[in-house]
Amino acid sequence: MYLPILTYPDKLLKKTSVPVAKVTTKITDFINSLFETMYTSETGIGLAAPQVGENINIFVMDVHIVDPDNPENKKPNPIAFINPIIIHSEDTIIYEEGCLSCPELLIDVERSKHIIVESLDKEGRPQSHKLSDLSAVCVQHEMDHLLGKLLTDKLSRLKREIYKKQRVRDRAAG
Ligand code: NI
Repeated sequence: MYLPILTYPDKLLKKTSVPVAKVTTKITDFINSLFETMYTSETGIGLAAPQVGENINIFVMDVHIVDPDNPENKKPNPIAFINPIIIHSEDTIIYEEGCLSCPELLIDVERSKHIIVESLDKEGRPQSHKLSDLSAVCVQHEMDHLLGKLLTDKLSRLKREIYKKQRVRDRAAG
């Protein structure tokens, strides 16, 4: 089921999410909807529950695996994360990030280059992923959403005010 994506400055995006107590079929269905919603966007590689108005610690990601011998050949790699925790991080990387909740905003953000993240999968089984580069950046971006943090928090106060006015005007214009 497609779920409408909230955009800045919606207040629900600024709320801190809570852990999932039990992985029920309702949670699994919700995760399937998150994937479906993310795939409707051409650019989205991650989507967090608060972006569709559910303030719970869940996000989905699909950073395609590229075949080094044939870069045109991309394999999907969908992963769902429930109650994620980063247990290790190493080195830094600066990557230009965008967000489905912050249209027309692209900013350079410094993140950890390598991480190990533990979580539950969509059936509630513990999983651990060692990730680097874009996948690591994506996980850290999505985990910011669970803390109520957005790309707009990385802007200067003046730039944020300008962006906010622009968004409010664009939303009013439909
Ligand atoms: Ni985002």
